[in-house]
Amino acid sequence: MPAVRINGKEMAAEVRAALTKEVEELKKKGITPGMATVLVGGAEDSAVYVRNKGKNCEAVGGYAELHHLSEDTTIEELMGLIDRLNKDEKIHGILVQLPLPGELDKYEKQVMNSIDPDKDIDAFHPMNLGNLMIGDQCYLGVTANACVKMLENVNVDFKGKHAVVVGWSIEIGKPVTMMLFERGCAVTLVHPDEDFAPYTKQADIIITELGKPKAITGEMIKPGAVVIDTGSNWIDGKTIGDVDYDSAVEVAGCITPVPGGVGPMRIIMLIYNLVEAAKRLGG
Ligand code: GUN
Repeated sequence: MPAVRINGKEMAAEVRAALTKEVEELKKKGITPGMATVLVGGAEDSAVYVRNKGKNCEAVGGYAELHHLSEDTTIEELMGLIDRLNKDEKIHGILVQLPLPGELDKYEKQVMNSIDPDKDIDAFHPMNLGNLMIGDQCYLGVTANACVKMLENVNVDFKGKHAVVVGWSIEIGKPVTMMLFERGCAVTLVHPDEDFAPYTKQADIIITELGKPKAITGEMIKPGAVVIDTGSNWIDGKTIGDVDYDSAVEVAGCITPVPGGVGPMRIIMLIYNLVEAAKRLGG
């Protein structure tokens, strides 16, 4: 029997509806979740992502502002803007779109670390990542959180399960490893350049962050496993996952498609963090 397809679009619509209600309640208390996105330079794909984030914020009733800076912006100017946004009471979440262009790229860490951790809705700040490690209040990486929400949606019983995470970024692999561990999984975090098949073959849960199209095929998956594919590989005008869906769907128990799986959930989990930030910081 083919695997259950985990529908990210439907799940995102449900989360969006719940957030819209929460924002309605917050507005009654005089709090409108406010998100500032900062885009430096003219990369067209980044501009599309940023516009999409703004639209998702407005769709739940939030306020979104975009600061589109020119390619020749200096680090001082960028840090000055972040400082103003950190102090701006109508802004609860700040997002500096990566990658930064040209020379600014080498200041990426400095820029991300300058965002007030309470407004760091990307959850890239060391304070949020550190608090995740020690189990304190923090924002969760949006894709990592999307993965866990999708596992919960298909009622995965985490306790004692073996989860294999292939990929290790601070946005996906590392936080999701901690989140699964906290829920009682034994977690193996595997480098995507290593031979990951011996690990995925034993896994009850597989999370992929490979950046390699169709790299995980059906024969690398244990029958009945739950497979969450965060891959988004742009090939010949199409988005292709890390998992070879056609062979994997015959073996797995549940699986996310690409597109229409983690992608739609990812952006709404950013708005989830924004609403959390508004509740935390108030009006
Ligand atoms: N560039 C690509 N993805 C992201 C993201 O999730 N957050 C930020 N800030 N930049 C990105």
